Amino acid sequence: MNKKYNYILGIETSCDDTSVAVLNGDGYVLSQISANQDLVHQPFGGIVPEIASRNHTMHLLPLVDEVLKKTNLKLSNIQGIAATNRPGLLGSLLVGMVTAKTLSLSLEIPWIGVHHIEGHILAPFLKDNEYQPPKDWSFPFLSLVVSGGHTSLYVVKDWGKYQLIGKSIDDAAGEAFDKFAKMLDLGYPGGVQIDKLSQKGDRNYHQFPRAMLNEDNFDFSFSGLKASAQRYLSTLSNEDIQKNKGNICASYQEAIVSVLLEKVKKAALKYSIGKISVTGGVSANSRLRQAFQEYCTETKKTLAIPPIRFCTDNAAMIALAGLKRLENGESSQLTEGVVARASI
Ligand code: KG4
Ligand code: ZN
Repeated sequence: MNKKYNYILGIETSCDDTSVAVLNGDGYVLSQISANQDLVHQPFGGIVPEIASRNHTMHLLPLVDEVLKKTNLKLSNIQGIAATNRPGLLGSLLVGMVTAKTLSLSLEIPWIGVHHIEGHILAPFLKDNEYQPPKDWSFPFLSLVVSGGHTSLYVVKDWGKYQLIGKSIDDAAGEAFDKFAKMLDLGYPGGVQIDKLSQKGDRNYHQFPRAMLNEDNFDFSFSGLKASAQRYLSTLSNEDIQKNKGNICASYQEAIVSVLLEKVKKAALKYSIGKISVTGGVSANSRLRQAFQEYCTETKKTLAIPPIRFCTDNAAMIALAGLKRLENGESSQLTEGVVARASI
């Protein structure tokens, strides 16, 4: 029989968020604390890897202490540790993985290296006192993972059984938001600002290109959209841009959201799947949530978009992915390394 884990510790440090969580054996999040580094990277207009790993080093152990304190648990209660070890920024991944290995060695409990995207894919199954998966949420489902680093679409068949059916061939959707925000001087990360400015804008104000919609695959491309936006902005005066900022943002946002939705619609049809999840930082986008909800309501599909704390990079999703693998008898060796690029 598979071993049962009562308490598992999750660690996520693959990019710029330091996150620690404790889950019980049912995937219930007892506590999660995430430290965001947006402010320290803001002056550079993007993530500086050296600064990211240094900040993980400063934040990680205090967060472990804090999470345990909140759950009234001691390290000796933890029976397994899951840490993201691929893909991501090497320095950042190392901080989380070395911490996981050290705890594993000193506590004599197993650790497991988790693929970051597996965490995002499984996030809809997480539970806490404010979120639970939609009723009847189960396999198979379509999983759209959209963040600053990834835009991928999977058919999720079971725990550990993921079929990648499409991905961005260039920029990720979040990158497309961030780069456009940079053109408009909106600050970093720009997705939230574009979302805000779009609220009162006309999404049909300007028709930005929608790439690869007529191709017979589920891949995405956002670099043409970015180039087209650059050209478009260069034809406008500063005054025009300021006056129509909301309309321009809403139109640009619509181009991204509509491509994501159209590909998901096509996939749902081809694979006859009635359950859809969207995770990753871009799933915070209010227009994306509205458009996906409308489509799922109209077509009687079940939509799972977990709350932001489980959608952006977080340790709870890593703990859950690790828990399922540990329960399955898997664990990682102390010789295991980190990997910058890894597919799933
Ligand atoms: O998952 P995440 O926190 O980190 C990784 O990239 O892994 O995602 C961050 C991305 C950024 O590109 C950010 O601009 C985007 O998510 N984002 C949004 C919104 N909130 C965050 N994009 C559009 N609308 C939002 N409301
Ligand atoms: Zn992520």
